[in-house]
Amino acid sequence: NTGPQSVETPGADSAPVADARPLELAIVLPTYNERRNVATMVERIDRELKGIAWEVIFVDDNSPDGTSDEARHISLRDPRVRCIQRIGRRGLASAAIEGMCSTAAPFVAVMDADHQHDPALLVGMLEAVRSGDYDLAYASRFAEGASTEAWGRPDRVKASGIANRIANKVTGVELTDPMSGFFLLPAETLRADAHRLSGVGFKILLDILATVDRPLRVKEFPLNFAARAEGESKLDQTVVFEFLVGLYDKWLGRIIPTRFALFGTVGALGVIVQFAALWVMLHLVFGERFVYGNWSENALFNTANTVAAIVAMTFNFVLNNELTYSDKRLRGFGPLLRGWAQFTVACSLGLLTNVGSAAVLKAMGFHDFVAVLVGIVLGAVWNFALSSKFVWGK
Ligand code: GDD
Ligand code: MN
Repeated sequence: NTGPQSVETPGADSAPVADARPLELAIVLPTYNERRNVATMVERIDRELKGIAWEVIFVDDNSPDGTSDEARHISLRDPRVRCIQRIGRRGLASAAIEGMCSTAAPFVAVMDADHQHDPALLVGMLEAVRSGDYDLAYASRFAEGASTEAWGRPDRVKASGIANRIANKVTGVELTDPMSGFFLLPAETLRADAHRLSGVGFKILLDILATVDRPLRVKEFPLNFAARAEGESKLDQTVVFEFLVGLYDKWLGRIIPTRFALFGTVGALGVIVQFAALWVMLHLVFGERFVYGNWSENALFNTANTVAAIVAMTFNFVLNNELTYSDKRLRGFGPLLRGWAQFTVACSLGLLTNVGSAAVLKAMGFHDFVAVLVGIVLGAVWNFALSSKFVWGK
């Protein structure tokens, strides 16, 4: 037993894993409440991607249904599966960006985790980009040969048609489906511009196309957009709205933050609502009965205006809850009532700031208009700060 016990074979130290083919493709799957789709997605990808060294990255926004647990459970058996669990964050686009930036694979793909996207397309998409003929490959629901029949959402198909036309104008690239959530590109293309992507909303492909300065050579793959396997869609009510917010964020978001702009817009609408409610109170609710009763004109006006202000504030609360803070939306009677009460306090303090700072400026000799305007802005900022922290803070 004198011979050498172990002979170092050349390269043995650099090949610690059995299957040491270098990683080629990372498939990023943003998830929110997809627990029951996770395992079947991995199985399908494994079946379709024979001969490709892949990894799957679930980017889960701390789904209450335990999607992250399920993904980690699979990861224990199959280290090609990874899970990023994000806490206190929501959003398809930002999840996709973080997933794509978290891999060493030279190519990255993003797709839905609910089986609406067919992973069989990935092979051809990878080939198109790897060959160097194309900078990006994506699956289109509206290309020749594609179908959306199984989707069963004619309303969404129409909304997509209008949004697509706007999108094509913005990016300068003619795509049949710029809102698609299924695409593949070199990781380097993404990383080079990742810091300039807005990460708001869901239209990540559109954002990439609008952000990368040179025109990309894009290859379209017709997709048979399937019905969702388990669970329900998260992009229902506010898809078109999010799209517009995304455009705003792209062009002006750096000057006036998107959320504050939304908050301010809602506030401006509230002014109109207050006038309208005041008119309704004075003309339709109080009306002649009160005029001929013993209500003084001032009492009438002040009561009507108080009600109108409460109506406007409630309107602002509801709209902010649905739109401005849609990612932190309060639900259920208790949380809504508490939120409404907190919002009332925030508005009152905002109003004090508003009127107070205008009074100070006026006393300092500023023009009325300037004093009022600065008061409005300061009041809004203060209101916004309080609301962000206390009403929609957690
Ligand atoms: N991490 C994370 N955070 N994932 C999310 C979020 C979120 O806030 N919202 C949705 N997702 C995940 C879902 O779990 C799913 O895997 C994928 O993103 C698509 O979400 P769906 O809720 O299934 O979207 P859809 O089918 O209604 O919308 C389809 O059309 C859009 C354009 O009209 C999808 O194909 C989208 O990708 C596409 O942009
Ligand atoms: Mn879906």
